[in-house]
Amino acid sequence: MTRRLTGFQPTGHLHLGNLIGAMRPLVAAQDRPSIAMIADLHALTVEHDPQQLRANTLQVATVLLAAGVDPERTAIIANSQVPEHAELHYLLESATGYGEAARMIQFKEKSAGNKGVRLSLLTYPVLMAADILVHDIDQVPVGDDQNQHLELARTVATRFNARYGETFTVPEGIRPENAARIMDLSDPARKMSKSAPSAAGRIGLLDPPEVIRRTITRAVTDTVGVVRDDAGNQPGVTNLLAILRACADREPGPLTSYGALKREVTDAVEAVLGPIRARYAELSEDPGHVRKILADGRARVQPRAAETVRRARTALGL
Ligand code: ADP
Ligand code: NA
Repeated sequence: MTRRLTGFQPTGHLHLGNLIGAMRPLVAAQDRPSIAMIADLHALTVEHDPQQLRANTLQVATVLLAAGVDPERTAIIANSQVPEHAELHYLLESATGYGEAARMIQFKEKSAGNKGVRLSLLTYPVLMAADILVHDIDQVPVGDDQNQHLELARTVATRFNARYGETFTVPEGIRPENAARIMDLSDPARKMSKSAPSAAGRIGLLDPPEVIRRTITRAVTDTVGVVRDDAGNQPGVTNLLAILRACADREPGPLTSYGALKREVTDAVEAVLGPIRARYAELSEDPGHVRKILADGRARVQPRAAETVRRARTALGL
């Protein structure tokens, strides 16, 4: 059976795009072995606050649970807590070229004009390769921005296998089923993202209802005045319709004004996020329980990860 891994960065700005594009597909596919991985090691590639990182990692784990990830079926882990990730990262560097890493678009973008660039920002895609390969993953749901990194993981795995002997499963990137790409409400030309320059167009998963209503009410539309899908000419309205479909799980009825559309979207989003917010508040009362779930996830995945690292060490002559 295929094994999947979905990664989440530990930031305090989880948004509706993360839920629709990653968490819900993960929940929908829980009949197959899956891992939900919080990439807390990744947070070390840029300046960070240790206390904030610890809190964010716990928050993402809590939101995953609140969104319906079932820890009995999906192992929820933080990559820092499974030391095999870091060990395999180092071993994989023996099959990765400096030029390959330096060519990554994300590295070029994040390092350009930045004096304090950490070495780990350069080698981050090798860590991502290790995150995937260490668990013998076949399928990785990835967005466009991670495609190049997944390709590198495939290249490194294939090369390692050819050079040192069959060691790794070569993973495949997939588009999650029914996962609409959600755009920024204040700038529908860009995707909703935690790293957007402004939070004005982002619907946070833990935003209070009045903030959500305001964000949707202020969403950028157009002067056409007709509610219809036309991504080219009406990207804002098209995005609101996509959110409505994803949240209400049905075709919207006839809507005659943008005001009516926004009210419907607000209600549909609240119907999805309200219960998540409530469950999150409940779970937050017992952070020890969430930490225990992370520890259980680690215990569940570690034997296979240790076995993969053992194979890699042996292949390398260690
Ligand atoms: P961000 O893109 O905000 O930095 P991440 O890189 O942590 O978020 O992405 C976590 C998951 O959420 C990935 O699977 C990614 O493809 C998905 N995702 C992120 N933004 C969106 C979006 N706007 N619409 C749909 N899915 C998204
Ligand atoms: Na991203």
